[in-house]
Amino acid sequence: MKLNKDLTKLKNRKIIITAGGTIEPIDPIRYIGNHSSGKMGIAIAKAFSKISNNVVCIYGNVREKLPKNIKCISVGTVKEMYDSIIKNLTKDAVLIMSAAVSDFKVKKVSRSKIKNKTMCLELVPTIDILKSISKRKSNNNFFAGFAVETEDVVKNAEDKLDKKRLDLIVANPVNKDHNPFGSDDNKVYFVSKEKVSEYPVMKKTKIAKELLKYVCRHI
Ligand code: CTP
Repeated sequence: MKLNKDLTKLKNRKIIITAGGTIEPIDPIRYIGNHSSGKMGIAIAKAFSKISNNVVCIYGNVREKLPKNIKCISVGTVKEMYDSIIKNLTKDAVLIMSAAVSDFKVKKVSRSKIKNKTMCLELVPTIDILKSISKRKSNNNFFAGFAVETEDVVKNAEDKLDKKRLDLIVANPVNKDHNPFGSDDNKVYFVSKEKVSEYPVMKKTKIAKELLKYVCRHI
């Protein structure tokens, strides 16, 4: 079967999956985080580990059990996630950025606990991991991002695909009817330069398998 033949292409490929949310410290006690549970990223890592024996899962804050049979690397900040990806990146690696990465960090992290008072935190942008890493992208790499959008889901995903020079964006809407955070299900669109495919609400484990099939067909 075509797919089985395709699957062998991934056997020895380095597969880097990021999962969960990054953490940007404010002081030794508090941080800027997000609602990501890591469910999607871990499901993807598990799906790819059935095919490749070279999967690395770089994870931030997660509320899921990590798989024992996969190499998992714990990171906190966006910079740590970036450094870990760079360390693991090879010229033919598949990178799937399912992590929810903070766009901002506190300009000056307090060394001691900030006591109750009214205050303003000065925030500065973090490094855009995908945008930066895409500059080193070779023809044999495959890079995918995820995008959570509240409006213009496909249009925003197409913009990100272009801006971050990606092969695929998995876009998911968040609205009053649907919130993927912590859920076992998600509704996604696979957005590439060639095509937009809309999927019905599916289990994240099923989405992971669809993504695996997609990558096999496009590398
Ligand atoms: N991403 C990244 N580095 C960042 C922020 C996001 O690599 N500093 C990655 C995410 O892991 C995701 C993709 O970029 O795979 C899209 O993330 P998203 O937060 O939707 O995009 P942003 O570029 O941050 O745009 P915005 O938050 O303004 O929608």
